[in-house]
Amino acid sequence: MPHRQPIGVFDSGLGGLTVLKELVHVLPEYDYVYLGDSARAPYGTKDFETVYQYTLQAVNWLFQQGCPLVIVACNTASAKALRTIQQRDLPGIDPTRRVLGVIRPTTEVIGDHTDSGHVGILGTQGTVDSGSYAIEIAKFFPEVQVHQLACPAWVPLVESGDYLDPAKADPLIEDCLRQLAEQSPLIDTILLACTHYPLLYPRILSKLPAHIDLVTQGEIVADSLSSYLQRHPQMEERLSRGGEIDFTTTGDPTVFGGAASQFWGSPLKARQVHL
Ligand code: DGL
Repeated sequence: MPHRQPIGVFDSGLGGLTVLKELVHVLPEYDYVYLGDSARAPYGTKDFETVYQYTLQAVNWLFQQGCPLVIVACNTASAKALRTIQQRDLPGIDPTRRVLGVIRPTTEVIGDHTDSGHVGILGTQGTVDSGSYAIEIAKFFPEVQVHQLACPAWVPLVESGDYLDPAKADPLIEDCLRQLAEQSPLIDTILLACTHYPLLYPRILSKLPAHIDLVTQGEIVADSLSSYLQRHPQMEERLSRGGEIDFTTTGDPTVFGGAASQFWGSPLKARQVHL
């Protein structure tokens, strides 16, 4: 078994870095391996079987890097692949390892954000079509009404780096916010249910009325992992504590590092890997 036993963090591309950033903020002592499958992003428009196969490959690759614990920091993969991997694949691969997602921790708290009881969910087509948010929120907050909208243009906007240009980003953002507002004037909470969307956060926020709470998942997932590790000391003890982060991508590492450094806060050197 490799000496380093990092926490694996997986996304279809750059978006999961918005989760990793908060994980490192809350839990800086651990080692991390980040894997962005940029060569095959976006996942949001792909069918169930494809997303499942890609996610399983990514999880297996992170296991090979020594990760006892993998966070699927992608809503689309969490919605379409996580349960099958947890229930069908993991027992045969290694029942002592864990794979956790981002939907469950988010739905456990999202109802606390709303006064009106109307929550807007913005995500990929895959996440919206899966109905996962509506199903999970109903378990924790049965009184909350969920209004969903897919924003298929937003992930390509982020992956291309065009999100930095307001002339390109603003019309696409305004279009989705208008469509969501048309579903209900009572929405007072909007969840960015795709880990790519927080890169658009300042642009989105600037277009919303002040009473609407714009919620991102990074902090929620980080707090949830922190509490998970407190409740599972046998997992916590396995994790290595070097404070190192290994950034990997299946895409072009220069493009990945360049786009990522815009919001990571410092230059980021990634290496290319093949799944
Ligand atoms: N960032 C991913 C999510 O949270 C999906 C992006 C994609 O479509 O690849 O859903």
